[in-house]
Amino acid sequence: MASKPERHPSLTARPEWQALCEHRAQLDKRHLRDLFAQDSRRGQRLAAEAVGVYLDYSKQRVSDETLRLLIQLAEACELPARVAGMFRGDVINVTEQRAVLHVALRAPVSENILVDGANVVPDVHAVLERMAAFAERVRSGAFTGHTGKRIRNLVNIGIGGSDLGPVMAYQALRHYSQRDLTLRFVSNVDGTDFAEAVADLDAAETLFIVCSKTFTTLETLSNARAARAWCLRALGNEDAIAKHFVAVSTNAQAVGKFGIDPANMFGFWDWVGGRYSMDSAIGLSTMLAIGPAHFRELLDGFHAMDTHFRSAPLATNLPVLMALIGIWNANFLGAETVAVLPYDQYLQRFPAYLQQLIMESNGKHVTLDGTPVDYATSPVYWGEPGTNGQHSFYQLLHQGTRLIPCDFLGFVSSLNPLGEQHDLLMANLFAQSEALAFGKTAGEVKAEGVADALVPHRVFEGNRPSSTLLVQRLTPYSLGTLVALYEHSVFVQGVIWNLDSFDQWGVELGKALAKRTAEELAAVEEPTLGHDSSTNTLVRRYRQLRQR
Ligand code: F6P
Repeated sequence: MASKPERHPSLTARPEWQALCEHRAQLDKRHLRDLFAQDSRRGQRLAAEAVGVYLDYSKQRVSDETLRLLIQLAEACELPARVAGMFRGDVINVTEQRAVLHVALRAPVSENILVDGANVVPDVHAVLERMAAFAERVRSGAFTGHTGKRIRNLVNIGIGGSDLGPVMAYQALRHYSQRDLTLRFVSNVDGTDFAEAVADLDAAETLFIVCSKTFTTLETLSNARAARAWCLRALGNEDAIAKHFVAVSTNAQAVGKFGIDPANMFGFWDWVGGRYSMDSAIGLSTMLAIGPAHFRELLDGFHAMDTHFRSAPLATNLPVLMALIGIWNANFLGAETVAVLPYDQYLQRFPAYLQQLIMESNGKHVTLDGTPVDYATSPVYWGEPGTNGQHSFYQLLHQGTRLIPCDFLGFVSSLNPLGEQHDLLMANLFAQSEALAFGKTAGEVKAEGVADALVPHRVFEGNRPSSTLLVQRLTPYSLGTLVALYEHSVFVQGVIWNLDSFDQWGVELGKALAKRTAEELAAVEEPTLGHDSSTNTLVRRYRQLRQR
């Protein structure tokens, strides 16, 4: 069913929004210290748990009343109906007239999800089976390269959603990966990325996975051409391409035109957004690394969170709670960024993955019907694994002039227990959220005998909000739950802000200008430039220095 962008009452004119504004003025006077002092059970009460994910949001600057008002706002924005619409396959990506059904990628085979009247679940499972058969052949050594050598190196070529999910998942699940396979990821059009990725690889043992939903992306096609040339140089034969290249795309025609046999292509569908595609065939590198059984567990984790999101009441629904608290922080407390701080080295690329997921989805300035918003939309997401961040930017989190809500993420058991180190890691996580919330008063500093002149420097004002996500162990399943948690949280925020969270028109202008500029840089004759005076000068200077 196609949903037309309806004119909604302006978000800020809604009585539920106004009620939150008034509430903010009252709550603002209360420090987190007061909120905890008034309720000895706050730490237990303001928490929710589902599918193995425990969310403690008690250190957010919210009260029961805040949550009640936020849920009222979500209901006024018809969140439950919008969630149902997504799962039903409604055309909720209105500017591209597409359904948004990443949830179908992890649906059990028994489910029935219709797009244009046809059930897509059997197609999803058919691709998963082809991927699994291929992955088994590569992992076992049955699939060999052009010279008969076993494939030992896998190079994923893709960018954005065709790279960040696969890189993040490979690093996150490295513990479960087949160690005699080397995985590399090439995304940047900067030749260094490709050159360094293949520098020590034997082409006869290397398989390229060219991932591109559209198969028109400049960076990916440039790198795929470089890979083709590198392969031909080393193996000296066009026939080698069929044994050393596979593609993942929705565009079979372009794959064929590029020279990859569509028989070596794994497909997906236009109802999967690039940044929501790591559990589609775009996850082929993940499956090759961890094997089909672990990949299935990953999908099960996603599906478990989908089911929770679809069915749990708003007040105990993890993606809803995270989204609403994010809205409170961004729109009512004025936070402009959010720090994502995973206390697990395997999640080192998780913040980068979330940056695309969240900011490409909700970094928008007009509503579904094209009206400019008069409220802030997505904050900037950023982060680094703990404890490294502590020795870098946490100073600003604790004593800077900006309010930066934090998402702490930690696991109860380590995959690499090393003496007491996991306890130390987790002690740091818990300590940081405590220090941010409660700080240290001037009185406490003085009582420690600190010289008067130094007291202001040693005060921590506290009242800095954070949530903590605690999970038993990093597994394919738990990774699936965490990614789906953020995916759905992004959707909820998009519903409240009344955005199309599934288009990305904001990337187009730069792409078009780059195409024109690339022609100017390469032109043999001095081109007539029609940019502004800064860009014209830069282009001329570059051409001069390159002696063109
Ligand atoms: O330019 C942004 C974008 O369109 C992303 O949304 C997408 O994930 C990425 O480019 C790569 O696109 P493709 O998979 O089609 O190569």
